[in-house]
Amino acid sequence: MKRLIITIDGPSGAGKTTVSKILADHLGYRYIDTGALYRGVALKAMASGLNPDDDTGLETVLSSLKMEFLYGEKGLRLISNNSDITDKIRTPEISMFASAASARPVVRNFLLDLQRDLGREKGVVFEGRDMGTVVFPDADVKFYLDASHKTRSLRRYQELKSETSQTLQNVEKDIKRRDKNDSARDLAPLRPAKDAVIIDSTHFSAQDVVDRMVNVIENKIIVVF
Ligand code: DC
Repeated sequence: MKRLIITIDGPSGAGKTTVSKILADHLGYRYIDTGALYRGVALKAMASGLNPDDDTGLETVLSSLKMEFLYGEKGLRLISNNSDITDKIRTPEISMFASAASARPVVRNFLLDLQRDLGREKGVVFEGRDMGTVVFPDADVKFYLDASHKTRSLRRYQELKSETSQTLQNVEKDIKRRDKNDSARDLAPLRPAKDAVIIDSTHFSAQDVVDRMVNVIENKIIVVF
């Protein structure tokens, strides 16, 4: 059967990562977390002492940055210049830096080619903010996953609880700021593609959402072939 490119966009905390992993497993596809790439850029830029709007500094950092994904026993790992950075990129500081730096054309252009390369062999579930609108406008099936602000904040808080001392209020504030950054930027703002299927996950489990997606994919495949 034809291998597809499936995109899942949406704001942070909507459940994209959980759902993308289950869906990719179900289909026997690879799963790519494109937010991790923006976080990888942020980690390197912060280590160089840059501000997220320092385009010249970012350009220099990017010129010597090589990132790739590996699939190991511990799942998807992000390798940056030969070092596994997967466990270093989930801090609130990196989230905020990644969101700010992701508005810079120099960063988006650098990651555009990399993401398209990762989709060359098809059979991939891509999660991000602009997968269906900019990176893969011809994707076979596009989803936009959303949830209420309260639910998304709670989910993110549960995720972070064991690693940081963030309060729920702080997480809510961070998510609001990131939503604003990610949606208000000029370049590839967060929004559903015209042909995306929009799913609100507020009252549904990850498995319910995946079941709905599988249904959409199967129907599309029947229509297309
Ligand atoms: O999905 P995430 O929270 O790990 O992403 C971190 C930041 O990266 C997010 O705030 C915005 C940016 N991002 C983006 O601009 N485009 C993507 N396709 C993925 C992430």
